Amino acid sequence: MSVSRYHCQLRQSAAERRAETHPLTWRLREDGAVVGLDEYLDKDGYAAAREVLDHQSSDDVIATMKEANVRGRGGAGFSAGMKWSLTMKGEGIPRGYLVCNADEMEPGTFKDRLLLEQLPHLLIEGMIIGGYANHSRFGYIFLRGEYVEAARALTRAIEEARAAGWLGNDIAGSGYDFDIALHTGAGRYICGEETALISSLEGNRANPRAKPPFPGQSGAWGKPTVVNNVETFCNAPAVMRHGAAWYQALSGELSNDGGTKLYGVSGKVAKPGLWELPIGTRGSELLERAGGMRDGRALKTWLPGGGSTGFLLPEHLDEALDFDTIGKLGSRMGTGLLTVINEDQSVLSLVRNLEQFFARESCGWCTPCRDGLPWTVKILQSLERGEGERGDLEMLDKLGSDLGPGKTFCAHAPGAAMPLQSALKYFRDEFERGVAHPPSNAHADPIPVGAV
Ligand SMILES: Cc1cc2nc3c(=O)[nH]c(=O)nc-3n(C[C@H](O)[C@H](O)[C@H](O)COP(=O)(O)O)c2cc1C
Ligand code: SF4
Repeated sequence: MSVSRYHCQLRQSAAERRAETHPLTWRLREDGAVVGLDEYLDKDGYAAAREVLDHQSSDDVIATMKEANVRGRGGAGFSAGMKWSLTMKGEGIPRGYLVCNADEMEPGTFKDRLLLEQLPHLLIEGMIIGGYANHSRFGYIFLRGEYVEAARALTRAIEEARAAGWLGNDIAGSGYDFDIALHTGAGRYICGEETALISSLEGNRANPRAKPPFPGQSGAWGKPTVVNNVETFCNAPAVMRHGAAWYQALSGELSNDGGTKLYGVSGKVAKPGLWELPIGTRGSELLERAGGMRDGRALKTWLPGGGSTGFLLPEHLDEALDFDTIGKLGSRMGTGLLTVINEDQSVLSLVRNLEQFFARESCGWCTPCRDGLPWTVKILQSLERGEGERGDLEMLDKLGSDLGPGKTFCAHAPGAAMPLQSALKYFRDEFERGVAHPPSNAHADPIPVGAV
């Protein structure tokens, strides 16, 4: 088993994964091979798309998605049904595009990869439903360039679906035309931001665009465009097959959000991996499923959903992992893949590493991000060497605030600010220790110029 496959492992047996409780993963094979068209059809595949195309209107689909409260799994948690209801469509409006965001470059995140590599037909079925609801005739899957296995699986699945009449003109005799193209990116994190993704898809430099207009009004090639995450689309077939009430009940008392979530754990745990669990499952249960801390070391801190989320403390593990609860703790659920840090690790070095990544991935369009992130990295590096200067921590506070929401064109900079600000809040002493010991007379008042 290769290292990359190891990180993509679902740690739930077929016996645990049932159609009634695991809508995203119950069809996965134990051997990790791709679920091809025949097997997918045997496992109730395309039944939801058939039901929608034969018996429902676009408005019916949107109403059910809204009622089920499917919140976008790409990180922001925006209601999928609401997004679909806000897309411009109808008489006289040109038909737009449906885009699946499969760029997945968030540090510590490897959930979409599992679905893309092993269950490509579930994504295609979800996109057919999304396309129908949004009056689109064409969909794109924008795939992270390094996901070579996923590209292979998707290419084959698209061909299979086309040959079987599930893509193309007059899908399954319904009169609805919809096709999908796979577009592989060139490995830039910013391409995951939906408007940068659209720029890149059009063949332009991957710069984000100011909103409004939102993509649902004017997106790819100026047409209404819906962008959703892989996992979001993969929820649609089960919602349409079993209904909003069933989907809502999956999370039960744990959360107001509907359904399940592909949660994951990486870092200093015994068994990193992925699990499909009701949304709102506590972090402590995830840590337990991951076999606890590796080598018996104590938990120091954790990131709840990728590098662009804020650090949380061990006591926060007892909170529900959902968008609202984690938001109230001052962080974000993000992708829902935990990164676990132990007592031996330096949070300062971890933050420097993350900020280096964010600085490298900045598109450079706005000043706080283009110049502020490298400046942040420079200060963090000097603190790491124990050569920090007085005032460095205050400068990091200021840089964190200048990178915050509302100061830049896109959410890349606010995402980068989150680990920095939360680390300064919870682990300030680590940063303070990096300030070089001032010389004994450094605190004396400066001698005024001209004084005798
Ligand atoms: C810098 C940056 C990178 C992002 N990367 C991804 C990504 O790889 N995949 C993703 O689905 N969303 C990503 N997003 C969020 C998208 O902009 C968008 O909100 C999401 O694709 C919408 O899908 P959803 O509503 O289904 O979550 C990123 C956002 C930012 C600011
Ligand atoms: S915040 Fe950063 S990535 Fe986003 S537009 Fe500005 S420079 Fe580009």
